[in-house]
Amino acid sequence: MPAVEIRPNIFWIGVNDRTTDLFEGYWPIIPEGVSYNAYIVRGEKTALIDLAKGFKTDEFLAQIANVADIRKLDYIVINHMEPDHTGILSVLRQLAPQAVILGTPRTVEMVASFYQITDNVRAVADGETLHLGPHVLQFVHTPFVHWPETMMTYETTQRVLFSCDGFGGYGALQGGIFDDQYADISFYEREALRYYVNIVATFSRAVLRALEKLSGIPVDVVAPSHGLIWRKEPGRIIELYRRWAGYASGDVERGIALLYGSMYGNTEKMMNAVAQGASKAGIPVEIYDVARTHVSYILPALWTYRGVIVGAPTYEGGLFPPMAHALDVAARKKVQNRKAAYFGSYGWGGGGEQEFRRLAEAMKWEVLETFTFRGGPTVEDLRRGEEFGERFARAVAGG
Ligand code: FEO
Repeated sequence: MPAVEIRPNIFWIGVNDRTTDLFEGYWPIIPEGVSYNAYIVRGEKTALIDLAKGFKTDEFLAQIANVADIRKLDYIVINHMEPDHTGILSVLRQLAPQAVILGTPRTVEMVASFYQITDNVRAVADGETLHLGPHVLQFVHTPFVHWPETMMTYETTQRVLFSCDGFGGYGALQGGIFDDQYADISFYEREALRYYVNIVATFSRAVLRALEKLSGIPVDVVAPSHGLIWRKEPGRIIELYRRWAGYASGDVERGIALLYGSMYGNTEKMMNAVAQGASKAGIPVEIYDVARTHVSYILPALWTYRGVIVGAPTYEGGLFPPMAHALDVAARKKVQNRKAAYFGSYGWGGGGEQEFRRLAEAMKWEVLETFTFRGGPTVEDLRRGEEFGERFARAVAGG
């Protein structure tokens, strides 16, 4: 895509990635894709803000050439070191050795350790300003949104916040780069939540600290390094991030993530009965087969809802492995302080429930109820399951 001027002499450049299957080597992004957005602020001095993955390098360099002479770039501003934003740095350094690389003190260390670049690299202080003429950049350190070295860059004359991972989301740009170019942005909001939970959620306290720090800064345009640029409603994505970060402290929505796994259909039969019961409480119930759904897509429901029902059989004396994996990732992402329940089938001895209880305790989940059944569920078992689902959902809806 050609460069786009987002404010006078402030340009978006960037590349869409629709072929990388796994973001960070783990999170599926096909078919949604992702964009790596970067920006050029051109004036008496010219700065390139954020870069891109080492991917479609020719396209990225052509975009820079579209609006600036790469051999005359004055600054390369690195808001965040993760290689989805810096993979192209070694190539750029060769083409633009004159450009001063700017970042936080931790960034300076990381530029050396990741790319062995030590010359012409300078640390910027929190709040420091850089006059480009007429544009002015101000650097705001925002550690752990997403790595410890992270900062955001604020252009003070046009009130543009280059926020890097913060306020970003999965989802390749479908032609338009701005929120006001889409009649329906639900795809981007959904993918921003999935991105938040997959990538940023562990650091939600840091996100809230950053939001507090940014609260006194007037922002007309939020320009993240993934996904849409928010110029119609910049406050929209900021408020969504504030809400999502708040979920970390248990301030979550009334609803249930119902996770299940089933080897031969017995636990699935029970899941349907449990779901039937849960549906009577009038709150959302989202159902996920953990063996067939990547945890990337399950985490948003776990993060958003106060209730979790886990249905999984005993497998070799423990929990069905895909369920154990899903709950392990939930623990790593700090999905804490939920109300939970467990049901599952066992063949000859238990074990699934005990492992679930261990995992739930580690996440400070309050286990309201459990029940297990041997082999296939009887009609009576299914009736019990339906009641179990309804009781739990009413507790989640009301408590
Ligand atoms: Fe988009 Fe933390 O990298």
